[in-house]
Amino acid sequence: MQLQQKILRLLVIAGAAMLFSSPAAYAKNFKMALGDAQGGTQWELGTKFVELFKAKTGGKHDIKMFPNGQLGSEQDTVNDASIGTLDFSVLAINNITPFSPTVGTFTLPYVIQSLDEAVMLTQGDVGKELTDNTLRDAGVRIIGWAYSGFRVLTNSKKPIKTPEDLKGVIVRVPKNEIMIATYQSWGINPTPMAWSETFTALQQKVVDGQDNPYITVHAMKFYEVQKYITNIRYIFSLEPLIISESVFQSQSDDVKQAILDAGLEATKHSAKYLAETEDSIRKELSEKGMEISDPADKEKAWIEKATKEVWPKYYDSIGGKDKLDRVLKLLGRG
Ligand code: MLT
Repeated sequence: MQLQQKILRLLVIAGAAMLFSSPAAYAKNFKMALGDAQGGTQWELGTKFVELFKAKTGGKHDIKMFPNGQLGSEQDTVNDASIGTLDFSVLAINNITPFSPTVGTFTLPYVIQSLDEAVMLTQGDVGKELTDNTLRDAGVRIIGWAYSGFRVLTNSKKPIKTPEDLKGVIVRVPKNEIMIATYQSWGINPTPMAWSETFTALQQKVVDGQDNPYITVHAMKFYEVQKYITNIRYIFSLEPLIISESVFQSQSDDVKQAILDAGLEATKHSAKYLAETEDSIRKELSEKGMEISDPADKEKAWIEKATKEVWPKYYDSIGGKDKLDRVLKLLGRG
């Protein structure tokens, strides 16, 4: 009997050792948070990633997606992933900047001016460096990118063409210093607010406007509470897919590779999706009654004020003026 008990104990210890040395050998249901509702670029990247990841791991693992801020504000999800209580999150880059200031390079106004530039920067050395910095600063690993298009300004009050037209309009912005400073350069103090609270605030007229890409405006049904769109192109919205670094490191090599490969493929899919979808979504928004207009004078006043006043304020936080100069040179504007 004593011998049997010893064998049993040894078996339990061996089992536990196997369990903890290769936890990912067991099927796992991961959780993925998304700030946006279903149907936008975050959802498209997320669903593609899940489909690819499941295929690459032979259907052994699954990922359940929680759209529309169900798991908390986008900034909360960075905290949760950082401490390992959340596995994945798809969120706007501007909601990572407070945790890792150098990614502010991608939210400085009027730096990225097209989808091609966005792809080139995120997929090249700059993207790699900012991804490494995010890992170091926030404990989360960027494994994919949703390309969401330019953030356009929406509001419920009046057509806006010039920065002066913003007077009297209360605009919600993410809790992001660069974006706050940008509206200040245009002459107003915007209202910083979590994304998860924005629809209700627009609906209840706590704020009059906000900015986000067409596809996001559509996915969030903002056409129900906003009338006017101004095609400002101050930020090209990038929405990374992040994984908690502690969750990533606890996976087997095969699963890690599946995560990285699925992230890359889903990123390519996202660029294609934006190029194929943005125009028809814009038309749909206009059919739903939104009035879309361009800023006056090819956006000259908006660009001048923002670049002149905002860029120098953030040289230090992005790691020095050199960092921005390098990006502009890469984009052929240096
Ligand atoms: C924000 O405005 O906070 C975000 O850009 C929204 C989003 O993630 O789509």
